Amino acid sequence: MQISNYKTQQEKIVCTTVMPTRMTPGMLEDIRESLLRKPRSLSPKYFYDQRGSSLFDQICSTPEYYPTRTENKLLSRHAVDIINKTTPDQILELGSGYSTKTRLLFDACQQTTNECIYVPLDVCEEVLVEVSKRLSEEYDWLVVNPLLGDYHAGLGNLPASHGSHLFVFLGSTIGNFEQEDALDFIKEVHKTMCYGDHLLIGVDRVKDNDVLHDAYNDAQGMTAEFNLNILHVLNRELNADFNIDMFTHSATFNAYKERIEMRLISRANQHVNINDLNESIQFNLGDDILTEVSQKYTYKGIEEMLKQADFTITEHYEDENAYFSLILVSK
Ligand code: SAH
Ligand code: AVI
Repeated sequence: MQISNYKTQQEKIVCTTVMPTRMTPGMLEDIRESLLRKPRSLSPKYFYDQRGSSLFDQICSTPEYYPTRTENKLLSRHAVDIINKTTPDQILELGSGYSTKTRLLFDACQQTTNECIYVPLDVCEEVLVEVSKRLSEEYDWLVVNPLLGDYHAGLGNLPASHGSHLFVFLGSTIGNFEQEDALDFIKEVHKTMCYGDHLLIGVDRVKDNDVLHDAYNDAQGMTAEFNLNILHVLNRELNADFNIDMFTHSATFNAYKERIEMRLISRANQHVNINDLNESIQFNLGDDILTEVSQKYTYKGIEEMLKQADFTITEHYEDENAYFSLILVSK
């Protein structure tokens, strides 16, 4: 594809910070509210420092973690169709991480000579900068404008732009929202979009308990490392003194709620100081911290959620095993 005039002007990658649209607690307040009260929990956004992002990337390559493989397969099959149906001037990705799967959309853009701008949004600045540089070098026509921000803080301050937008929310990251919050978030995405824009969303499906269990309990222990990494983050950011070896990874399928629940379990009676909060926590043997939920959806359940947010379903792609859904919707 020919290099556009716009691209030749992009000398270096600048990460723009997206300001919150609503009051959101800072890390100190947030951790005080969630960790000092029972039941104890932590927001999964704290997994994703540079190490956590890299650990998630490694989880994606484990044989047990089928979601990435399956979504990749669906994207490989349908990316050209998606680009032809959406002809985006801008691809805006929520929780972009390493943007590995998004490359399949860029390849499809290249194939169909659909030049566009890529706007990845993530909480992990180091990864955003690294990935944006790499993509900008590898796709000589692609302008990359990374956004650093927390999508829980609202989408109202995303930079406005002309033309058609393809919003992308892959990896079943929507599953990491509590179900009521998921619908509110999808409604917010709808509100942020212009008429004629599209959203491509990847959603993990309800399936056999063993398949789900293994995906979150891989034999190499990558998921355990990822889960425990959140304690490293608290030690560094809040001057805490969690002894990482004294907690253990747990991920179980809650059949009633149709979701994986990931926890850290205390291996002993122990005291942990959170110095920046001037607080200490007493953990007894077996006490837990809920670190992540990963909601699984049925075919109908996802469509109902998208319709409730007033979206029109353009395509619902699924694999042969019905393990994963990739849904293209429009406003
Ligand atoms: N989309 C990629 C990565 C999924 S992992 C894929 O499908 O493989 C989830 C990503 O969302 C991580 O990159 C993480 O840093 C980002 N993330 C998590 N919570 C976030 C938040 N509150 N706001 C913005 N990004 C967030
Ligand atoms: C990013 N998110 C959708 C992953 C998931 O499957 O819920 C995070 C993850 N947690 C453990 N393994 C992967």
